[in-house]
Amino acid sequence: MRSKISLLLILVIFSCGKSKSNNSDYQDKPDNKQSSTTEHSGKKLLKNQCFVCHNPTASKESRIAPPMVAIKAHYISENTSKEEFTREFLSFLEKPTKEKAKLKGAVNRFGVMPYQYYKKSHLEKIAEYVYDYRIQEPDWFKNHWKEKNGNCNYNQGKLAVNLQKEKTVSEIGLEFALGTKKLLGKNLMGTIQNQGTLKALEFCNEKAIHLTDSMSTKFNAIIRRVSDKPRNQDNLANKRENEVIEIYKKALIDSLDINPITEKNKDNIQFYYPIITNGMCLQCHGKPEEQINTEVLASLDKLYPKDKAIGYDANEVRGMWSITFKK
Ligand code: HEC
Ligand code: HEC
Repeated sequence: MRSKISLLLILVIFSCGKSKSNNSDYQDKPDNKQSSTTEHSGKKLLKNQCFVCHNPTASKESRIAPPMVAIKAHYISENTSKEEFTREFLSFLEKPTKEKAKLKGAVNRFGVMPYQYYKKSHLEKIAEYVYDYRIQEPDWFKNHWKEKNGNCNYNQGKLAVNLQKEKTVSEIGLEFALGTKKLLGKNLMGTIQNQGTLKALEFCNEKAIHLTDSMSTKFNAIIRRVSDKPRNQDNLANKRENEVIEIYKKALIDSLDINPITEKNKDNIQFYYPIITNGMCLQCHGKPEEQINTEVLASLDKLYPKDKAIGYDANEVRGMWSITFKK
């Protein structure tokens, strides 16, 4: 027991750098918004079939087997090929014996791994994941390994985050559109609630295009809100945009699914997605007098003498996001 404690002290003193923050790299981020993240099937299998015993987060006291990274460290050295590793890994698992075991210390401490039947294809997937990727490891392992072996090269491979599926151009465009919509909506709602519709109108007049432009800079894209019946003439849709707006109007009437439309040009992607009204919009885009109060109407007349953006109902195509970005 005493030797264990003094070993622990040595481990604390010789550190391999910021093991703690590194560790978080391999963990799944629950707040990861990219729903398109796909997990390597070997990672799932490892978690479901092996982590009961080889858990990287188990405390030292409650451990019943070495963490998988320790096994990786003993099986893979600089010159170990993937084929070699897979062969040895599978050979042990098909018939675990004390003689075959490379982790003699673990065998002494925990006993030989009890045999369990695993599908060969599953074990191959697990081996592939362990070999190709940096796997999750406990905080203490880095120092432990360094102390014994003088290096930190035991967990090579890609970061699991590299596995994120490439986003489609629709997904990218939608991210830009919805991000901008959120920013505009938040500011609009806040102003309506705190200062009333009239002030909110002034806000839209002064800030809408600025906010949209700021998002263009942020996303390195050209983000526009266009309309066939614009309030601000700068937002007038061009010929192609008008055609697409008509497609969306028809789709809405026919209750079809509303999806982004993307077009590939020579150097960039053109993305379209409709902007559809709800009840809230009608206090500035609805029927004069009925829904737009006289104060707001007067201000609209003054600010936008050529205003076409009135007379809408809820659930109509008010306009469209038209976004250009590089692929
Ligand atoms: C019931 C507990 C348990 C489960 C489940 C388990 N193992 Fe083990 N495993 C152990 C123990 C204990 C050891 C350490 C003793 C040893 O090396 O045999 C070990 C060691 C190993 C070794 C190293 C053997 C050596 O010493 O060379 C490999 C490889 C291994 N396990 C792979 C796996 C894989 C892959 C899975 C999941 C498919 C898995 N284990 C599931 C308990 C388990
Ligand atoms: C407080 C008044 C107000 C409300 C509420 C409002 N808007 Fe507007 N909207 C404006 C003003 C003002 C402009 C012109 C902005 C400018 O000059 O850049 C505008 C412009 C737009 C444009 C750009 C095209 C154009 O006509 O110039 C779209 C699209 C749009 N609004 C959609 C909506 C939708 C959808 C809602 C509800 C979710 C909504 N608006 C709610 C005042 C409002």
